Amino acid sequence: MFLELSFGGNMLELLIFLIPIYIANSSPVVLGGGIALDLGKKFFDGKRIFGKGKTLRGFFGGILAGTLAGGIVSFIYPLRFFADPQTQFIAAFALSLGTLCGDAFGSFLKRRMGIESGKQFMPDTFIFLLVSLAFVFPFALPGLFEPFNVLFFIILTVILHPLTNALANRAGLKSVPW
Ligand code: CTP
Ligand code: MG
Repeated sequence: MFLELSFGGNMLELLIFLIPIYIANSSPVVLGGGIALDLGKKFFDGKRIFGKGKTLRGFFGGILAGTLAGGIVSFIYPLRFFADPQTQFIAAFALSLGTLCGDAFGSFLKRRMGIESGKQFMPDTFIFLLVSLAFVFPFALPGLFEPFNVLFFIILTVILHPLTNALANRAGLKSVPW
């Protein structure tokens, strides 16, 4: 009974921790558009740096949305992974910035590999999560990075990312189902 409760409680905390990451990652689909993050510029290989799928509005809108969401969460649900709610708020910014940087880095890799914008690429499902976790490292207590937690984050994200993209596609928000 006790084990069950603490396990369930832990899972809830892990899900709450993921809120800024998931909001930052999904909101650019609705917030994005306009000027490209790479300003249309090409890399040395003659291909776009990030491509047309990464926009300035999506980048900064995603960071703002994730930070706001995580900021609200820090007031109503202080997580044991952070020293205090203020640090948790700063961590929400680090997580959101990491998510959008990871997302752009994924696109950078795709363009270098000659994969067009919007085409399927398996690492799209988790690169943003890993970079986000790296960015939050200086602000989190060591308990966050317990193997169980990290595994939970990765498995859940690899499952949820394609699922939510398929839903966004059905809802008419995204042109492709991945
Ligand atoms: N988006 C954006 N700005 C970002 C990230 C995403 O405007 N920084 C918007 C774009 O409209 C993009 C959509 O969200 O098409 C879906 O994002 P994503 O799947 O990450 O981009 P892709 O279009 O698949 O491009 P890429 O192949 O570079 O990942
Ligand atoms: Mg995509």
